[in-house]
Amino acid sequence: MKRFTILLLLLLCPVFCRAAEEPLPQMIERALSVAREQSLIMAETLQGMEGRFPRTFENGQLVTEDYRWWVSGFFPGVLWQLYADAPDVRLLAYARMMTDRAEPVKLMTDTHDLGFMLHDSFGQGYKLTADPHYLEVLKTGIRSLLTRWSPELGVIKSWESSARWKYPVIIDNMMNLEYLCFMSRETGDKQLMDIAKRHADVTLQNHFRSDYSSYHVVSYDPATGAPHAKNTAQGYADDSAWARGQAWGLYGYTMMYRETLEPRYLEQARHIAHFLVNHPRLPEDKIPYWDFDAPDIPDAPRDASAAAVMASALIELSTLDPSKDAALWLETAEQQLRSLSSERYLAKPGTQGGFILMHSTGNYPAHSEVDVPLTYADYYYIEALLRLKAQLAHPSGAE
Ligand code: GLY
Repeated sequence: MKRFTILLLLLLCPVFCRAAEEPLPQMIERALSVAREQSLIMAETLQGMEGRFPRTFENGQLVTEDYRWWVSGFFPGVLWQLYADAPDVRLLAYARMMTDRAEPVKLMTDTHDLGFMLHDSFGQGYKLTADPHYLEVLKTGIRSLLTRWSPELGVIKSWESSARWKYPVIIDNMMNLEYLCFMSRETGDKQLMDIAKRHADVTLQNHFRSDYSSYHVVSYDPATGAPHAKNTAQGYADDSAWARGQAWGLYGYTMMYRETLEPRYLEQARHIAHFLVNHPRLPEDKIPYWDFDAPDIPDAPRDASAAAVMASALIELSTLDPSKDAALWLETAEQQLRSLSSERYLAKPGTQGGFILMHSTGNYPAHSEVDVPLTYADYYYIEALLRLKAQLAHPSGAE
């Protein structure tokens, strides 16, 4: 009898476990409440640190950078997103304070990261406030970004030329295209959209392998127009699948399909999504190891930032993909957000210097930012939570 009872309980366990699962709307609100609490703590700390932006939290210390480091747009963007969800005068004041700090970025011509730095700060702020000064900053920033555009090669240069790379373009650069698309619509300048499409097309041609994983760095030879090197900088090996790079690609092509409705971008996003979602080394909790080919899996560090970017992209893809795979994209993103919102990844309020997520990996080969909070993990986590919230409220995708 006792054995029968135990057997019955084991059989019913999945039913009980499922019943015990926190409803998604409740999970989203709980996570957003932690995010607000943490972000206000961080903003208050930064208020007294003129010109500084959060980067990570290591050895019990908040690590900050000035506007020139590529992450300067993310914390302003975190604040804008939280403000959009739940308007609050403190969030608005801090969002403006952090956005103003990023203004000198508009004149930077030695980086391609202006999409992250300006679109996620001034762009988010402009969408919510229509502040004309924000638009002026965005216009100046686009001019700076276009100094890196090569009409001959059809790509925006990511990093400066070096002995190793003549004209390096990294997969991350797909993320800057949203800034071009947004400004093209905002100003009516069609050339900006053409540049975004050309960069996406050339990247599609040269960055991907036959399994739709991507190289991190492709360097072009200006003399021939063809790639002369395909390498990694932040991944395990040249031919490995660096997790965040795969997520940037997925997000980039999903976004390009949303902006253009060109079927080739949807097709590419679907291929990348299949590679990621069905990968045999994607762990059960769906939070990728920092590189899908890291040799020490399952002991390799995870990258919560890759999961956050991937979740946000998959939710959007689920609204754009008319095939039955849409359900798989949404289900995977939900699993990722459940994991990120668990105590394993979500910081306890009052800890981690005000960062929201733990366990990201920035640059493993450089022994930099391994298994730590990262400001961009927080940015895409909030974006994903808000996208899921909108999706649950309007399941057809109509807002
Ligand atoms: N673009 C920098 C990174 O993804 O680490």
